[in-house]
Amino acid sequence: MEHKDFLAMELNKVEEHLLKTLKTRSKMVEASLSDFVKSGGKRLRPALTIIGSTFGDYKSEVAIPLASAIEIIHMATLIHDDIVDDAEMRRGTKTMQSTLGKNTAVYCGDFLFTRAFMLIADMAEVEMMKDLSKAIAFICDSEIDQNEQKYDQTVDVRKYLKRIGGKTAALFSLSIAVGAHKAGCDRKITSKLSNVCKNIGMAFQIIDDILDFTGDEKTVGKPLLSDAKQGIFTLPIIYSLQGSYKEETIKAIERIERDNGESLLNCAVKSGGLDRTKRLGIKFISKATKLKDSLPNGYGKDAITAIIEKQLERKF
Ligand code: IPE
Ligand code: IPE
Ligand code: MG
Ligand code: MG
Ligand code: MG
Repeated sequence: MEHKDFLAMELNKVEEHLLKTLKTRSKMVEASLSDFVKSGGKRLRPALTIIGSTFGDYKSEVAIPLASAIEIIHMATLIHDDIVDDAEMRRGTKTMQSTLGKNTAVYCGDFLFTRAFMLIADMAEVEMMKDLSKAIAFICDSEIDQNEQKYDQTVDVRKYLKRIGGKTAALFSLSIAVGAHKAGCDRKITSKLSNVCKNIGMAFQIIDDILDFTGDEKTVGKPLLSDAKQGIFTLPIIYSLQGSYKEETIKAIERIERDNGESLLNCAVKSGGLDRTKRLGIKFISKATKLKDSLPNGYGKDAITAIIEKQLERKF
């Protein structure tokens, strides 16, 4: 069987497992959660769990519920993120908060967390429960930092990297680590995989932040300029605020609603902010590649290579 087919087949099982796991009393909630599952998404994190599992003794019946738990946690963070970001669109369709309202969306997100924990509890994995809880806490802490840093012109690259390390890279590294661990990999390989995916996760969020500026809205499936409009200064703005374009950037931020971000995008380009952002993304990709090279040859390594190679070119 082709490698790609294996992953696609396992991800199909994850999808089925998700739909089964998300049954609930409220038919409205159930329908809306199943719409969310069916709206797709890249399924990158559950793919990492499956790939991680292939480094050990791969068992589909173990990897699928685990990968599903990871995707459920991811989905919960997205639903809550859209409430906080007041986002209308995701994955090219209306967000839950815009169709059902923020209140119901909060509960849907919470409900998802309980389902993820139930899946882990079924595996009687206490340590894993702790690791997942830690990762979720890390996501929350980083989102809180990001919220507190809104409109703060002194936010620097170090603070930004800390933020994205928590809100995104932590779940990437955990996704592969739980898969590897559960399939019986030793600590050395598990921690190497986790490190590779931490770097992929850093690059992933940097690219997401670039797409928020330069992406095509239809392809991205999310509203553009959403970060800057909320006063969340991501890397292109942070860099743009650092040099001789500082004053112009500040004015462009003030003008964002009036000119729909045209001046800000201009500043990010002229100041070299976007280029520098891209370069840092490439750095994390190179780091991931270097770490990945020392993994044992085989399916898992090839699959990780394919994921790494896709990142810099991705359009959504
Ligand atoms: C969105 O993640 C949240 C970020 C970390 C940027 P994805 O881009 O993986 O979302 P889906 O699952 O593919 O929709
Ligand atoms: C990622 O940040 C959020 C989470 C990790 C939950 P964003 O706010 O940039 O995510 P998108 O762009 O809305 O998917
Ligand atoms: Mg958002
Ligand atoms: Mg957000
Ligand atoms: Mg984003």
